[in-house]
Amino acid sequence: MLTFNGIRWIKPKNPAGKRVLVRVDFNVPIKNGKIEDDFRIKAHLPTLHALLKGQNTVIILTHIGKPAGKKIPAFSARPIARRLSKLLKRRVTLISNPFTLPAARTIKNAPAGSIFVIENLRFWNGEEKKDETFANNLSRLGDVFVQDAFGVIHRAHASITRLPFLLPSYGGLLLKKELTALKPLATNPKRPFVVIMGGVKISTKLALIRAFSQKADRVLLGGALANTILAALASPVGKSVIEKKTIPAVKRMLANGTKLVFPKDAVVASTQNARRGTKKLIADIAKTEIILDIGPETATAFIRELNRAKTIFWNGPLGFVENNAFRAGTLKVARAIHKLRCYKVIGGGDLIAFFHKRNLASRISHFATGGGSTLTLLAGKKLPGLEALKKAKR
Ligand code: 3PG
Repeated sequence: MLTFNGIRWIKPKNPAGKRVLVRVDFNVPIKNGKIEDDFRIKAHLPTLHALLKGQNTVIILTHIGKPAGKKIPAFSARPIARRLSKLLKRRVTLISNPFTLPAARTIKNAPAGSIFVIENLRFWNGEEKKDETFANNLSRLGDVFVQDAFGVIHRAHASITRLPFLLPSYGGLLLKKELTALKPLATNPKRPFVVIMGGVKISTKLALIRAFSQKADRVLLGGALANTILAALASPVGKSVIEKKTIPAVKRMLANGTKLVFPKDAVVASTQNARRGTKKLIADIAKTEIILDIGPETATAFIRELNRAKTIFWNGPLGFVENNAFRAGTLKVARAIHKLRCYKVIGGGDLIAFFHKRNLASRISHFATGGGSTLTLLAGKKLPGLEALKKAKR
């Protein structure tokens, strides 16, 4: 059961006049120093504005990518500090090494309303190892802690599960918004509850598909992950990417999977860079072909199920949407969902960007900023960061 009992949420002027360490999830796609999508940064702005209104000094903690304890420039928080400065229309200072005396002094003596971004926490091994000394050193930079990083709340890392015990702690506005929006899906969804699972990796989503095949009324499967399911059903998948190791687990799931709906047809090509694809029934797929989108019959069958739904959750695109030749299935389903009047939650960075880019975002009830955290929560597992915050220091 998902409860938030015991969490103290930030309020107007509480905290006020403090040095506030805020854990956010600014893990955004960055290419050659340029941020490709700032949705996750914008999602934290209400929390940051509230803290600035309270005349606090804001010290932002984030991770970016998986640099595994190495200072790799491509994963630096510098572009994020620049983008944040634009969004907040204020000066934002990047602190490359917060564990030096001058850095600590700069933060301590900064006037109220100053904003600092600490360099990528995963540049230090201590973050992912949940190291006590690392967490203690971080805690010395602030008076209080605000947990707003829903996207990483499923990780037992130093800034997630240790900081709440070291400083008086609060939950942030994004964390509250995410949990409130996802709770109906996790506990008591209005029925029929229809789930669409797409994207690439079935191995990371199998637990969730299994959980949804109990909780939801229908689970519609597309994207590359459906290839492994089709292969487990002994359907032809040509040269499509499949996860062979997962096939035994998929077969076990299929044995009880009466609510699962698979693609009947597909758009195929011989390479993912092809300029156009060919529509085919799954049964007719040749050995040289790759499945790159759901076909029109599948999209229509999915929409028929969605038209009946009172609650919809969709994670991951239904085709290789990076290539325009293979986005028709995702687009058709996205357009249909846009028109429906029911509770609609969309998750996963690529799919969220897809909705925004095609102006289909306005009637969506909630865009979940977390990837793994959303899936962990909806699979009914505990979130270590949330458990820590419930027992946090006051
Ligand atoms: C995410 O992108 O899902 C979160 O930022 C967590 O990142 P991680 O999977 O690298 O821990």
